[in-house]
This record gives sequence, C-alpha cells and structure tokens, in this order.
Amino acid sequence: MRFSLWSLLVGLGSVAVVWGQSSTADSFFATESPIAKSGLLANIGSSGSKSDGAKSGVVIASPSSNPDYRFTWTRDSALVFQAIIDQYTLGLDTTLRSQIDAYVAAQAVQQQVSNPSGSVSSGGLGEPKFNIDLSAFTGAWGRPQRDGPALRANALITWANFLLSQKNTTYVTNTLWPIIKLDLDYVSANWGQSTFDLWEEVNSSGSFFTTAVQHRSLRQGITLATTIGQTSVVSGYTTQAANVLCFLQTYWNSAGFITANMGGGRSGKDSNTVLASIHTFDPAAGCDAVTFQPCSDRALSNLVQYVAAFRTIYTVNSGTTASQGAATGRYPEDGYMGGNPWYLSTLAVAEQLYDSLIVWSKQGKITVTATSQPFFAIFSPGIATGDYASTTATFTTLTAAIKTYADGFVAVVAKYTPSGGGLAEQFSRSTGVPVSAVDLTWSYASVLTAFNARSGVSPASWGAASVTLPSSCSSTGGGSPGGGSSGGSTVAITFNEQATTTFGENIFLTGSIDALANWSPDNALALSSANYPTWSITVNIPAGTTFQYKFIRKFNGKITWESDPNRQLTAPASGTFTENDSWR
Ligand SMILES: *[C@@H]1O[C@H](CO)[C@@H](O)[C@H](O)[C@H]1NC(C)=O
Ligand SMILES: *[C@@H]1O[C@H](CO)[C@@H](O)[C@H](O)[C@H]1NC(C)=O
Ligand SMILES: *[C@@H]1O[C@H](CO)[C@@H](O)[C@H](O)[C@H]1NC(C)=O
Repeated sequence: MRFSLWSLLVGLGSVAVVWGQSSTADSFFATESPIAKSGLLANIGSSGSKSDGAKSGVVIASPSSNPDYRFTWTRDSALVFQAIIDQYTLGLDTTLRSQIDAYVAAQAVQQQVSNPSGSVSSGGLGEPKFNIDLSAFTGAWGRPQRDGPALRANALITWANFLLSQKNTTYVTNTLWPIIKLDLDYVSANWGQSTFDLWEEVNSSGSFFTTAVQHRSLRQGITLATTIGQTSVVSGYTTQAANVLCFLQTYWNSAGFITANMGGGRSGKDSNTVLASIHTFDPAAGCDAVTFQPCSDRALSNLVQYVAAFRTIYTVNSGTTASQGAATGRYPEDGYMGGNPWYLSTLAVAEQLYDSLIVWSKQGKITVTATSQPFFAIFSPGIATGDYASTTATFTTLTAAIKTYADGFVAVVAKYTPSGGGLAEQFSRSTGVPVSAVDLTWSYASVLTAFNARSGVSPASWGAASVTLPSSCSSTGGGSPGGGSSGGSTVAITFNEQATTTFGENIFLTGSIDALANWSPDNALALSSANYPTWSITVNIPAGTTFQYKFIRKFNGKITWESDPNRQLTAPASGTFTENDSWR
C-alpha cells in the first residue's frame, strides 16, 4: 500500500516542492501510514477485525472497554470517513469504495433512529453517539453536539462531488442528497442554538470547531444543491451561511487567538481551533482570514499561543525551545485521564503547517502581517511585515524552518508511538507512555491526513475562495451574529455582471470605497456564479454615496481588470438598487 501511494503521488506530480528532509518524520510516516490505515479499517464494522458487533459501515471510536469507547460517534465517524473518501477520490487508495457505500447506508439508518435528543425531525440529528448496532444510546451524556450533522454532510458532499464528476448523478440525487439535506436543514435551523463542544464538556452558545464546520457544510451544500437542481434550499442556506460566517468572526479575540468556546471558564486555547483550521482547509482559498485558513494570519497567531500553552505544562516538553515541536493536548486545563497530550492534537499542528506550506508554495509568497508577525518571528526574529516572494532568500529560509518545525511535532508523536505502531488516545505528559483508549480510530485518521498534507496532497476545494464577509457584520469590527450596520444608513446594491469565464476563473468587484475594498484586488469581493453567465453580489453601500468601481477576473493567481474608464454609480438615498453590467 505504501508503494502504491508513493507511485501515485509521483504520477500525479503532487510532490512539486522539495522541502528539507527529516529522517524522523519521513521514517515515521513510511512505517506508520500502513499501520494507521489497517488500524482504522479494523475499527469499522462489520468486517473490521476489532469491531465485533458493529453494523456494516459503523465506525467504533476505539475497541477499548476501559474506558468504554465501543460506541459510534457521528463526529468521529464523519472525520474518519472524510479521510477515507479523500483517499479514494484523490486516487490514493482505490480499494475503499465498499466501505464508503456501507458508511452511506449506515448513516441513512442512524439518522432515523429516535434518541434522547429527539427524532429525525425534532433534533435527533444532534445526538452525539449511538450503540454500534445503531440503536439509541440512552445514558446521560453531553447532548446535543451540533458538529456531527455538518461533518457528515461535508464528507458526503465530497463523495457526491466526486460521483458527479463520474456522471453518477442518479445516485447523488436519489441516495446521497436526502441524507445530506436532512443534515443541512438541521445546521441551517440550529446553528445558533447552544451546543456541547467536540470534547463533550462545555455547553455554550457556540464552539469554534462546530461553527467553522457548519459554515463549510452550508457553503458546499449550496453549490451541490445548485448543481443537481435542488434549488429550493439555496436561498435559505445562503442567508444562514452568511449569518454563520459573521458569528465565526466573533471567536477571534484581540489577544491574538481564537477563543474555542463561548463559555466554559477556561483560557479558551484549545486544539478545537487547530482542528477547525485543518478540517476547513481549502487549497484554493489562499491565506484567507475570514474562513481562518491554515496559513491565515489569525490561524498562525492562534497556533503560536495554542502551542505555547502546552510547552511549559508537560514534562515531556521540557528543554524544548519555541522553534521546536512539542506535545500538545486538547486544552491546558484538561484533566481527563490525567490531562495528557493527544496524538491527534499534536499531529494537527503539523498538518496546519503542512497545509500552509502547500499554499505558500502555490501562491509564490508569504505575507507577514502585524497579526502573524509573532509566528514568523519564531523563525526570523524581528521580521518585518510585508510580502516575501518565493524568489527571496527569506521565503526559502522561512519555509525550510517551518517544515522542520512541523516535522518536529511529528517527531514527538513518533517518539511516543510504541514499537507496534498502535495509537491510543493520549500519551503521558510525564513519561510519554500511551494513556487512555487504545487504537483510537481518530488517531489513525490523523496520521493519514497529516501524511497527505506533508506529501503536498490537498483535499478538494469547498468554495472558501468565493466567501466574503457580509458588510453588515464586517462593519461592526469583529462581527456579530445578528449583524448590524456601522451607523449611517446603507442601501443594498446588487451588482450583476454578464461574463463568460473558463473553469476555475472567477469574477470579483472592487472600487473606491471601504465597502468595495478600496481598489484592492486582493480583498475584492467575490461574485456568485449561481446564475451564470450572470455573476452577482449584493453589497450594502452608504446611502447617497457616489463611487467608482470595476470588475476583475482572477484565474490561477492572475488578475485581469476591465478596460477603462472606471464605472461610476451613486447609491440611492433609500431602498435597494440593481445595477446591470457586462464585462468589457
Ligand atoms: C454510482 O455510485 C454508487 C455508489 O458507489 C454505485 O453503487 C453505483 O453503481 C454507481 N452508478 C454508476 C452508474 O456508476
Ligand atoms: C445547555 O445550555 C443551554 C443554554 O444555557 C441550556 O438551555 C441547556 O439546558 C443546557 N443543556 C444542558 C444539558 O445542560
Ligand atoms: C437591472 O435588471 C433588473 C432585472 O432585469 C431590473 O429590475 C433593473 O431595473 C435593472 N437595473 C437598471 C439600473 O436598469
């Protein structure tokens, strides 16, 4: 399996960049990846060797009976199957289709199981875990957990998009869409409700990981629904996606990190945020900070503070410096099973950095902002803000140092992986020996996804590049769930631009005022192609303002402006306005 993976990678030309080599990370992945793959499959019913009693397509969290993890969690299962679906659809392992079919069938059944959170139509989709024969788990638990439906939709939409590319529309429309729609309807209706976090401990009005994956699910869902003609959901999902995106901004705090939960009485520094970044990675979205892409200045600043929170509290990290890898856990206040480092949390740090390296290489530059300066300063003390093109020595030095840094986190995991390669949930903060549930399926999945990222293999895009922050929430300066304008009255102006484009090319708008990003092609507003060849966007513009604007095309990083002169418009004093233009 390892041999075929490498042949495929080379065949696809995916290993475009040769970063520095680290024998430890190299040898760890070479040895551990096949073990992780078989360890993961062993935990999937009904044929998995460690999943006795699990129905076909059901993922057990771990075969451990003490603590008892022989249940199936919607979240863990979806993350595991996202990894499997990525392996299959990226051509890395073409043997996995029967598992994917079985997962789809199992989820269709599980969705209909009434449980303590409700029935399928009254909140039951938010139930976090089920028995492995797919009956309801009725014991006390932290419920609901509203990330599960979103993650399942994300995995199934990735699968649907692949099948559409294979012209298998019938199966997508008849089998996948009904499952996906139930989950997206749930997300659309419930994203603003209180939820337990992914660690099943904090019940609050929001958890960053949950909100981030909910946002992704609605965006992908809108595109899928449009593609297969299920247009009745589009307007509702579009409205809620914009609201969720505004809400997502509110987790960012001025101390330079993402507060993981809206409550809970902790520091807020949490692996939740790193996991959100890698599970909403879109290789086509650059270093976008609004969606907290792995290389965004916000996500990198957050990473600095998250890692620092563990460097001093775990004995296994003693003697390490800021530019070296470290063991990291869920959150520094954690006491569960001793509150140790987790394999999947430590690997997530490496994966965020590998994802970042993919994007920096692709865009041919690193941008250092005031927000991300503390991250880059670890590798280049005193580095100035600005752009460093891939032709500069600084770019070369930074990417090599960051690759080494990422490999350092892998080396920590390698050091504390027992010789057989089995991965538990945690490893001891003082001695590094495995702790808590053995053979954690999610630990194995985290090896596969980190390895892909290190190999330069990216998951499919989910459309983050065309996401823009509604001006109604950006104008509040940090965003608020309810939106709200900056004071003076605004009018909603819809810009329609007729433009034929080639696949992968997109239309953006920028102009002479704040609401139009002040002539910045980088921050220009993305138009929707839902009514292609008409591209559209609605922008709130201060009433009565006269402004100039132009549309631009972006394709593979190349920008093309419309011809002169600038277009000009005066916003009406009230009401709404629709402007109709054609590319020139
Ligand atoms: C479509 O995909 C499903 C799920 O894997 C499969 O069962 C079916 O045979 C496929 N249909 C076609 C026409 O390829
Ligand atoms: C979670 O918090 C909400 C809002 O405060 C509350 O209504 C709900 O009862 C809480 N759920 C649990 C299980 O404590
Ligand atoms: C643009 O087109 C729409 C729909 O056809 C129309 O309602 C609107 O009045 C047009 N706008 C202008 C400025 O002509």
